Amino acid sequence: MSIASLRREYMGESLDEADVAADPFVQFQRWFDEALRAELPMPNAMTLATATAEGAPSARIVLLKGIDHDGFVFYTNYLSRKGRELANNPRAALLFHWTELEREVRIEGGVERVSADESDEYFASRPLGSRHAAIASPQSEPVANRAALERKFAEVAAGQGDAAQRPAHWGGYRLRPAAVEFWQGRPNRLHDRLLYTLQAGHWTLGRLAP
Ligand SMILES: Cc1cc2nc3c(=O)[nH]c(=O)nc-3n(C[C@H](O)[C@H](O)[C@H](O)COP(=O)(O)O)c2cc1C
Repeated sequence: MSIASLRREYMGESLDEADVAADPFVQFQRWFDEALRAELPMPNAMTLATATAEGAPSARIVLLKGIDHDGFVFYTNYLSRKGRELANNPRAALLFHWTELEREVRIEGGVERVSADESDEYFASRPLGSRHAAIASPQSEPVANRAALERKFAEVAAGQGDAAQRPAHWGGYRLRPAAVEFWQGRPNRLHDRLLYTLQAGHWTLGRLAP
């Protein structure tokens, strides 16, 4: 079977201007709830795209850990590649693809760190092994081999035990959206695309060609 012959007819329900919420956060929450109800394997997995100050892009998957009216929150290592890119160019894009629902959501905007308190609270809620790993792993740095990584993890686990505190270089970011697009697959590739853009503090809604 050739890759080019992989094809799927989208049957998706329609996404109509008359039915969507005026606020993209409300619309996102609706779709996210539907993704939860559909029991998708990882509904909160999203692609995070960042770029260097020169504009060279990079992308990876991270987990959405919170939504509020200020934005979309994820956690990572501030010294990682993405962390370095965000320090120099604090803008990013998030992308959800909910295959089974024939849906895609694209979110773009500025990024800032969440408060230390917010990061502490989330860090404390993580399983102990994940906390030890966050301390032990210099994310995105070269490591000599697997054994070196496991040695470091064992050292941290033995040294810190249950008391493992959030290291200053690990925490959350919040992306404040300036644009949110909802894409619904439709027959004959005539998909629905509704784009919310923030203009002078208000969300305006438009439609894009598929
Ligand atoms: C399903 C899935 C979820 C992930 N969630 C996170 C996450 O929440 N935070 C994180 O830092 N990395 C997460 N990763 C790992 C990242 O994709 C990536 O390898 C790591 O963050 C380093 O990226 P960077 O070198 O571009 O900074 C996840 C990977 C997968 C496949």
